[in-house]
Amino acid sequence: MLSNKYLNSLLGATMLLTAGVGSVYAQATVKVGLIVPMTGPQASTGKQIEAAVKLYMQQKGNTVAGKKIELIVKDDGAVPDNTRRVAQELIVNDKVSFIAGFGVTPAALAAAPLATQAKVPLVVMAAGTSMITESSPFVVRTSFTLPQSSVIIADWAIKNNIKKVVTMVSDYAPGIDALNSFKERFTGAGGAVVADLKVPLASPDFAPFLQRARDASPDAIFIFVPSGQGGTFMKQFTERGLDKAGIKVIGPGDVTDDDLLPNMGDAVLGTVTAHMYSANHNSAANKAFIAAFKKANNGLRPNFMAVGGYDGMHLIYEALNKTKGSTDGEALVNAMRGTAWESPRGPISIDPRTRDIIQNIYIRKVEKVGGELYNVEFATFANVKDPGKEGKK
Ligand code: PHB
Repeated sequence: MLSNKYLNSLLGATMLLTAGVGSVYAQATVKVGLIVPMTGPQASTGKQIEAAVKLYMQQKGNTVAGKKIELIVKDDGAVPDNTRRVAQELIVNDKVSFIAGFGVTPAALAAAPLATQAKVPLVVMAAGTSMITESSPFVVRTSFTLPQSSVIIADWAIKNNIKKVVTMVSDYAPGIDALNSFKERFTGAGGAVVADLKVPLASPDFAPFLQRARDASPDAIFIFVPSGQGGTFMKQFTERGLDKAGIKVIGPGDVTDDDLLPNMGDAVLGTVTAHMYSANHNSAANKAFIAAFKKANNGLRPNFMAVGGYDGMHLIYEALNKTKGSTDGEALVNAMRGTAWESPRGPISIDPRTRDIIQNIYIRKVEKVGGELYNVEFATFANVKDPGKEGKK
């Protein structure tokens, strides 16, 4: 017979062991909370990002620095109140080591104070307003900023005899960012902006704005709409005959988003935009990415949001490699600073000072390639930093 004393100590040891195993398990799993709009008007962004993040994990495996990566996907419908609630749940209940995604600027801004408070890195994979990275020292971005491409298309317009422009932007932060950076550069170089039109973000009807733009007879309309709205804009633009009136469309490349471009119709041919990614980008890395993404997603063409998600996941993996698996938030953000790699979009890096992305911006023209509409890149501006932060400390 075993003595009670012996049994008790055996029981104690087993309990300790079980507790030990539990905590070792908890440490060995690193959770990533992906907050994206899977429903509502921005759903295409969520779908693209989720697909790209899952593809990355499938390609690279789900173990990094000895830790198992667990992805938790949450739909916020791009509604900031939802984003805040979901981020809180992920941080407090699920104990995630990263929050990532953020389909629109207001969603990223809603979660930023929680990232600061909990010292959890927040990886922006989609939203593009310049100041998001200044909203928390834990924000790091793999998407883009609107000024990055807006100032470059302003320079291109001036050089290509576009002198008179009407601006038309979605009436919220990234639209205002695009407008201000374009206008400053364009008018500074002698261009004239004859009207600034702001279109409501929710279920936009561009028709009345297009009429006003037409009445001003500009050389071009500078347009910013968030990913997902370009098809409607282009349809209404051509229905009202603005293309026939010789008015050009210029802007950041969100309007000729690769997700919608194949169905936009030939009226979009010749549209020139500046952006960080085209599915037609000519590199081995992009060709491999496109083939794998299409294969995993029923032939869906990846857009710039997918690339922001794919690279965001790479940055998370790299940060964990650099910290040797430590999930200390400050250490992870510091590990992300200065990280450089080849993305499907071309070479990119994280600015060590601002935590924002440095990337090539390409000027592209919509053309038919193999019978399909693509943004064909024809000029490259290398290693563009966010102009929105120039001169800031
Ligand atoms: C944003 O809300 O920051 C945003 C969303 C979609 C875009 C660009 C910017 O295409």
